[in-house]
Amino acid sequence: MPDHTSPSRRDFLKTAAAGLAAGSVLAPSALARTGAPELEKRKLGKTDMEVTVLGFGAAEIGYGGTAQDIVDKLLNSALDQGLDTIDTAECYAESEVQIGNAVANRRKDYYLFTKVGHWAPDGLDGWSAKGVTASIERSLKRLKTDYVDLVHLHSCGLDVLKKGEAIEALEKAKQAGKTRYMGYSGDSQAALYAVKTGKFDTLMTSMSFVDQESIDLTLPLCREQDMGVVVKRGIGNAVWRYETQPTNGYVVEYWKRMKELDYDFCRADQRDVEGPDGPAGIALRFCLSLPGVHTTVVGTTNPKRFAENAALLQGGPLPAERIEAIRKRWKEVAKPEWVGQI
Ligand SMILES: NC(=O)c1ccc[n+]([C@@H]2O[C@H](COP(=O)([O-])OP(=O)(O)OC[C@H]3O[C@@H](n4cnc5c(N)ncnc54)[C@H](OP(=O)(O)O)[C@@H]3O)[C@@H](O)[C@H]2O)c1
Repeated sequence: MPDHTSPSRRDFLKTAAAGLAAGSVLAPSALARTGAPELEKRKLGKTDMEVTVLGFGAAEIGYGGTAQDIVDKLLNSALDQGLDTIDTAECYAESEVQIGNAVANRRKDYYLFTKVGHWAPDGLDGWSAKGVTASIERSLKRLKTDYVDLVHLHSCGLDVLKKGEAIEALEKAKQAGKTRYMGYSGDSQAALYAVKTGKFDTLMTSMSFVDQESIDLTLPLCREQDMGVVVKRGIGNAVWRYETQPTNGYVVEYWKRMKELDYDFCRADQRDVEGPDGPAGIALRFCLSLPGVHTTVVGTTNPKRFAENAALLQGGPLPAERIEAIRKRWKEVAKPEWVGQI
């Protein structure tokens, strides 16, 4: 099993653990390196991974076709500043290749998560055992590594989960050392079913001020089972940035919900507020204050974003009254169809 714990990291973990025991969300800023403030790390459920509360999500660089030199800069500077978790998927265009090119030479500096099933070449069923196994092999080549730390099934439905073949293929990949852990990435009833199987080490799921179904549906069970919880879309795609309905269909649902929820921190006069009490700070702090959440992978194409978001977390846990207000408003306004968004 690879040793991800360097001596300096071990020292930091001890100090971070002391901070956690004292009830702080963030490691003391006195520990800060140059650049981003030092981030808290949390143990990802029953895995041996101590992940930074902010991870990197590679969908944006892949789908956005971000140039390799930008990806090099973005990932290397974030890793230099303490980021330790990179999440990607075979289907995020060229993102695996970009990540491999940028940081394969420092593989021990980060945990690497990928996903399978969504895509397969030549008419192969991506959710079949053969499809899952072949996808992992392709990912390892593209990422230029001989193992990943975690493979998530990429949001398959209940039918695939119930069939069991994809899960068994992941178990075999784990036994073969291709991946150290296995998880399910998805939402709503399929996520609930996946958690209940007891087969997965982690759940990756959407959870934010505009996507709260998972807070009641799956998070408590994950806590009971000591599953790692990786939040996707935790900043809610930063929907407050759009004054009018966005043309990007992926964020429209969240934008519509935001309009109806009408949170004070998303209103036009708050949109440009910077710092921990602006919309981005409140969004990230909300998600990371929910008990049982270990990390949120934030997508970006901006090399400065990791340091900026780490700085927002210096605000510490969101005050209980603010969390309660966000939850109360959701419960008043949310419609039955406001389920977790894949
Ligand atoms: N089914 C699945 O398994 C699934 C589905 C969705 C996502 N994911 C994973 O989760 C990751 C994150 O989800 P996501 O990419 O959909 O969205 P997200 O992280 O919720 O939002 C990303 C967007 O937020 C912006 N942003 C980040 N920090 C900001 C800040 N402080 N202020 C203003 N804007 C900010 C980024 O813009 P800039 O580029 O300007 O920073 C980017 O456009 C993905 O990359 C992927 O790894 C998995």
